[in-house]
Amino acid sequence: MKTLLINGSPRKNGNTHLALTEVAKSLEAEGIETEIFWLGNKPVRGCTACYACVSKNLGKCIFDDDVCNRLSAHFAEADAFVIGAPTYFGQPAGALLAVVQRAFFSARAHVEGKPAASVAICRRGGSTAAFQCMNMPFEMLNSILIGSQYWNVAFGRDPGEVTQDTEGMQTMRALGKNMAWVLKNLHRDGTVPRSPQEEWQPMHFIR
Ligand SMILES: Cc1cc2nc3c(=O)[nH]c(=O)nc-3n(C[C@H](O)[C@H](O)[C@H](O)COP(=O)(O)O)c2cc1C
Repeated sequence: MKTLLINGSPRKNGNTHLALTEVAKSLEAEGIETEIFWLGNKPVRGCTACYACVSKNLGKCIFDDDVCNRLSAHFAEADAFVIGAPTYFGQPAGALLAVVQRAFFSARAHVEGKPAASVAICRRGGSTAAFQCMNMPFEMLNSILIGSQYWNVAFGRDPGEVTQDTEGMQTMRALGKNMAWVLKNLHRDGTVPRSPQEEWQPMHFIR
């Protein structure tokens, strides 16, 4: 079993990376494989709402010139997801949102129904808003949202400072343990678990 952790900070080894590493170590200690995928700091597109991914059934974004499809190529082999981002103006960093919106829209089949969590880092405030914002996609993808002993947030400004937030680091370890526990129980009989669902009946509010 494998958890894919997505680092949405432009600082590769910054506080988001350190918090996700704490989650990953906790998962590994429970026998769950992990991979931390850094989105990088190159420009990324926002979704253009062209719907090509859906109408052509691409399974990926039609725009192949940034990190989006390199990330979503890892989705199929992931049994669980953690997305992490620094808080910018009380929101998740923009690049993380841009990539997640495109990747989850175009490759949603490989995200749906799996355990998932978000992690938000900040200097002082706004991380709970960012955390809730990152949870929103999972809450409409039949995901099993994993919590911790507190909201999945930790504090620090300069790279490394988050390790001084001992409670925040403990929150990350508890998240890892909760996710491992859910994964092990879900996969206990060796099948890929999905809750039985009716066929989706989208209704676009057009009368
Ligand atoms: C553009 C920008 C906006 C920020 N906005 C906030 C904020 O709203 N609240 C806060 O507490 N910290 C804010 N910060 C600080 C970062 O969240 C903090 O430095 C965080 O540790 C960065 O994570 P990283 O090391 O993974 O990049 C902001 C930083 C930047 C660059």
